[in-house]
Amino acid sequence: MTLSQPHGGTLIHRINEQYDYSDVFQTIEIDRTALSDLELIANGAYSPLKGFMSEADYTSVVQNMRLADGTVWSIPITLPISEETANSLKVGQKTKLSYEGTIYGIIELSELFTPNKLEEADHVYKTTETAHPGVKKLYDRGNVYAAGQITLVKVPKKESFATYYLTPIETRKTFENRGWKTVVGFQTRNPVHRAHEYIQKTALEIVDGLFLNPLVGETKADDIPADVRMESYEVLLENYYPADRVFLAVFPASMRYAGPREAIFHSLVRKNYGCTHFIVGRDHAGVGDYYGTYDAQLIFNHFTQEELGITPLFFEHSFFCKKCGNMTSTKTCPHSKEDRVILSGTKVREMLKNGETPPPEFSRHEVVQVLIRGMKVTV
Ligand code: ADX
Repeated sequence: MTLSQPHGGTLIHRINEQYDYSDVFQTIEIDRTALSDLELIANGAYSPLKGFMSEADYTSVVQNMRLADGTVWSIPITLPISEETANSLKVGQKTKLSYEGTIYGIIELSELFTPNKLEEADHVYKTTETAHPGVKKLYDRGNVYAAGQITLVKVPKKESFATYYLTPIETRKTFENRGWKTVVGFQTRNPVHRAHEYIQKTALEIVDGLFLNPLVGETKADDIPADVRMESYEVLLENYYPADRVFLAVFPASMRYAGPREAIFHSLVRKNYGCTHFIVGRDHAGVGDYYGTYDAQLIFNHFTQEELGITPLFFEHSFFCKKCGNMTSTKTCPHSKEDRVILSGTKVREMLKNGETPPPEFSRHEVVQVLIRGMKVTV
């Protein structure tokens, strides 16, 4: 076996910091999500995308989870702008992409179109309710989508944990240098707990390397901040993981909370980073009660292994069972609910706020200390 081929066959590279845009006059002001998408298109993490989606690709992705040419793709990657901005733009012209006054990209503006956001919400998020954070954001962003191929002309500066930002070219090189032929990717937006560790290490038993890839882009306000999460990973790796088998780097995308659709997207991106396998556990990328516990696993049945090009590894709900005396899951533990230590993220946040320490069966002591410090909670 070798590392996965990029999705669509070619790793896209659209970064050119020498790009001369002195003859480009139009400008679009973009938000943080668009800036992270711009960078991830440019560095190849979103291969085969070369830009923000055209109407044909967008409609096809929304309705069929495929680009117009049939390639699997489950989440629209679009550049929403206001109607006012749209009216000021000429299609067919290069346009600067500016974030907080700095030009980061150029888009070859090929199209402006008006999406059907209700349809997008219904298909992608399975709800049109604004209580869903992904849907709320979809509605809050501009009502016109700007499409076209992009070039990243300035790589955004990283404020924290700068050494953990790697491009797919760099992660692939790292895996190769370590001699890994099979690599399992792990997506997360939460501080690491024992169930994460259990499924990560169980997966690592059957592959050469584990690629821990926490998402550090925009998340909802009550999620734990990315720098605290990263620190929780650092202490865990230092104390409990084999350094030569594990590699930690960040995934700077925004969280969509699109559950099943996002699980497909997350796996394709990790394929671009070089992973051959990808972990999908319970309620992957879910929020509230919008998705069934294993919907994000069932969605993989829509596609053939060949067209996905990465092998999903599914895990059932995992926890510590007092009767088993170890970490286990609904698949392997015969005991009852009362014997199991199960805590929700919300419950854990509450405990930390109330000065209670989550039990060691739920979270490693070192991680709890980081969380307490990070959340400035005194126990
Ligand atoms: S996610 O939004 O990034 O998916 P989270 O960081 O909680 O959220 O989960 C990371 C991965 O671990 C996902 O694949 C998720 O399904 C899985 N996971 C989280 N908790 C458990 C658990 N208790 N049992 C099994 N899988 C889990």
